[in-house]
Amino acid sequence: MNIGVIGAGYVGLVTGTCFAEFGLNVTCVDMNESKVNLLQKGVVPFYEPGLEELMRKNINEGRLQFSGNIADTIRKSEVILIAVGTPSLEDGSADLSYVDSVAKAIAENLHSYKVIVTKSTVPVGTGERIKDIIRNINSNCEFDIVSNPEFLREGSAVEDFMRPDRIVIGSGSERASSIVRDLYRPLYIIETPFIMTDIETAEMIKYASNVFLAAKISFINEMANLCEKVGANVQIVAKAMGLDKRIGPKFLHAGPGFGGSCFPKDVRALMQIGESHGYDFKIARSIIEVNITQKNHMITKIEHALRGAGGKTIGVLGLAFKPNTNDIRESPAIHIIEGLIEIGANIRVYDPAAMDDAKAVLGNRVTYCNDAFDVATNADAIILVTEWNQFRNLQLEKLKGLLKHPVFIDLRNVYEPERMRKNGFDYYSVGRS
Ligand code: UDX
Ligand code: UDX
Repeated sequence: MNIGVIGAGYVGLVTGTCFAEFGLNVTCVDMNESKVNLLQKGVVPFYEPGLEELMRKNINEGRLQFSGNIADTIRKSEVILIAVGTPSLEDGSADLSYVDSVAKAIAENLHSYKVIVTKSTVPVGTGERIKDIIRNINSNCEFDIVSNPEFLREGSAVEDFMRPDRIVIGSGSERASSIVRDLYRPLYIIETPFIMTDIETAEMIKYASNVFLAAKISFINEMANLCEKVGANVQIVAKAMGLDKRIGPKFLHAGPGFGGSCFPKDVRALMQIGESHGYDFKIARSIIEVNITQKNHMITKIEHALRGAGGKTIGVLGLAFKPNTNDIRESPAIHIIEGLIEIGANIRVYDPAAMDDAKAVLGNRVTYCNDAFDVATNADAIILVTEWNQFRNLQLEKLKGLLKHPVFIDLRNVYEPERMRKNGFDYYSVGRS
């Protein structure tokens, strides 16, 4: 079975590599030539633990290849996965222009029955939209559409693909559903649950899952803000909540707000889907509002800790939107740094994987450092924004000696308030006193 994956980004490259690992013959296509050249040399153009090694293995075993030629790839594939970007438009809706251009390319190269799978997160009704585009260009071709949304988290994408909680397959065609289900045959041995449904329901499951996860984060961030006011500890609150099996412990870590290319985009898109169907999805609006407020609240917290940030030197640990990725899309760290620069602070930064990505956005407006100690040197405060493992066991004595003032602002509640104060820090965190 030949699989064509269109779009070799975080989603497409992981999906293509893992399907090759499942024994399928995969060609990943991308319109970005320099990216294709890197991939053909076995180089992954972003940070994703374990991906490069798995990719090289499958290239060497002849099951994985890369191409810039979408027409050729479509013609030789029985199953085509669409994994191109679906960024947000001004009004919050998903930009489907890339999906449309892929659908057009498919229509122009459809000479035998093919299964077309949407992997990208797409609004409900996109399956129909793709069908119409193809039918209008190539009226007598044979194909079926399947929605097979991904639930990959950056930084653990390979693991999430190999050990998914569930596989969702939405289609109006039995034939197409079973072809896609067979792609995941290696998961039968670990009895992964399959949800077999229609296209619209599958498309909605992805938004429902992501927006609910974002809701948990905005909820615990609001809870943290109230805990600060009443003198409660949000970490204990979250722990006790999570012991209730109906709630669960995951995604209840208070922090600076969520970032990434998915949650912000998917919450806005769901709100927009509601609006376009005359429904006001109020919770989605609140999730967004709380998230924006949370990022700005962090800037206020920092100003308060420093009794004014103007003219101060502030060290920032972490730039990526979460650990184990170089992705800075909608990263709280970048938002906070921009805000601090605006009020006249001098910023020193370090991130284990996202320095180049940050340079493209922050330019020479900040000082790029080599490690946490360099960041702390002569700084009036140090702020932990992205909880990389490297930042979880800092040599506090050494850090304190390098800082102009021992102010530690921990936006991920990595450290214990009591221990930090015993070590002589003026310590601040989120949702704890
Ligand atoms: C993104 C979103 O994050 C995810 O929510 C959505 O489900 C899929 O799109 P990601 O892999 O992060 O996933 O996108 P991105 O990193 O932007 O990669 C998209 C890739 O597709 C890029 O490499 C781009 O060059 C390529 N592309 C885009 C094409 O090859 N052809 C196109 O027409 C458009
Ligand atoms: C998310 C979904 O988890 C995944 O299923 C979907 O396929 C793509 O979007 P991702 O965006 O890669 O994955 O990262 P995730 O680990 O979900 O974190 C998203 C954001 O929420 C990050 O900014 C993270 O810092 C934040 N977060 C997460 C919290 O602030 N608190 C938490 O408890 C968990």
